[in-house]
Amino acid sequence: MLRALLGRWRSSLRLLRPAHVEADRAKISVSQLGHRYGNKVVALEDVDLNVRSGEFVCLLGPSGCGKSTLLYALAGQVKPTGGVVSIDGRRIAGPGPDRFLMFQEAALFPWMTVRGNVTFALAARGVPRAERKDRAETYIRRVQLQGFEDALPHQLSGGMKMRASLARALAMDPTVLLMDEPFGSLDAQTRIHMQELLQSIWLRTHKTVVFVTHDVHEALMLGTRVVLMAPRPGRIVRDLEVHLPMPRHPEDAALLEMVRHVAGLLREVEHRARPEAPAAPSSPPPRASAHAAPSATESVRGP
Ligand SMILES: Nc1ncnc2c1ncn2[C@@H]1O[C@H](COP(=O)(O)OP(=O)(O)OP(=O)(O)O)[C@@H](O)[C@H]1O
Ligand SMILES: [Mg+2]
Repeated sequence: MLRALLGRWRSSLRLLRPAHVEADRAKISVSQLGHRYGNKVVALEDVDLNVRSGEFVCLLGPSGCGKSTLLYALAGQVKPTGGVVSIDGRRIAGPGPDRFLMFQEAALFPWMTVRGNVTFALAARGVPRAERKDRAETYIRRVQLQGFEDALPHQLSGGMKMRASLARALAMDPTVLLMDEPFGSLDAQTRIHMQELLQSIWLRTHKTVVFVTHDVHEALMLGTRVVLMAPRPGRIVRDLEVHLPMPRHPEDAALLEMVRHVAGLLREVEHRARPEAPAAPSSPPPRASAHAAPSATESVRGP
């Protein structure tokens, strides 16, 4: 018993702690959220989530557990069939300039240069014409795309397109950034670079970020909080604060220990979601990372 306690104290898993955020201290407050699509699929049920201003929350879970639906409800693009979503105490009724939603596709205007895309966002925000060029260059520098201001999207690599998209998002200056697997289509090396870039931008701006990913390593690289979801119906089963200092290094031993632990929890979620599965798992484990093999050490909240 004592040995177990000592082991736990020594382990970096002590830096993973259950999150408890009161609604009245939250920037984003989700209460009793439910969503049933027209085809009767219950994508979300009884979801409660409070996010403080400046937190970086990663939503993690198997395919179909409602991560995107929850994110779109925060964006105001899905009108939930039950419950309430509020930002700064005001109920969300639709999309608004305080939130910006990013996807896996960079979604740049193909006929505009990088500078043109960023300037367009500044114009949409009402920044005076005379200031737009300088301000666009600041955001382009921030995402390390200087030298490519006049390039068209088709002249950029996947990672560069995503950086341009990030510059445009920053130019919109939302208080909340909502990201749906934004780095999902990038190769492993570019993905790590994008994570480091996003982390450095977040450290500087402390925007509130809700970031959807399948990748446990990515969630622990970036998140101050990791929220685990389970499917059928989509719900939250764990909500953990990550007290690992930033900036984080992808090969850090404490980070990798947490990755193994959370991958184990996720594997359990996936196993429970498939009661018909045989005792010996035949399906592949959740994507933990290129760096660590998963192992379960703690159980998840029941349905
Ligand atoms: N427009 C839609 N109409 C009907 N059902 C939908 C719609 N969008 C999603 N669903 C269903 O709702 C559930 C949750 O979907 P959602 O896209 O939110 O999951 P997800 O966790 O983001 O999955 P993934 O990791 O694969 O992106 C799934 O069962 C899905 O089939
Ligand atoms: Mg999704």
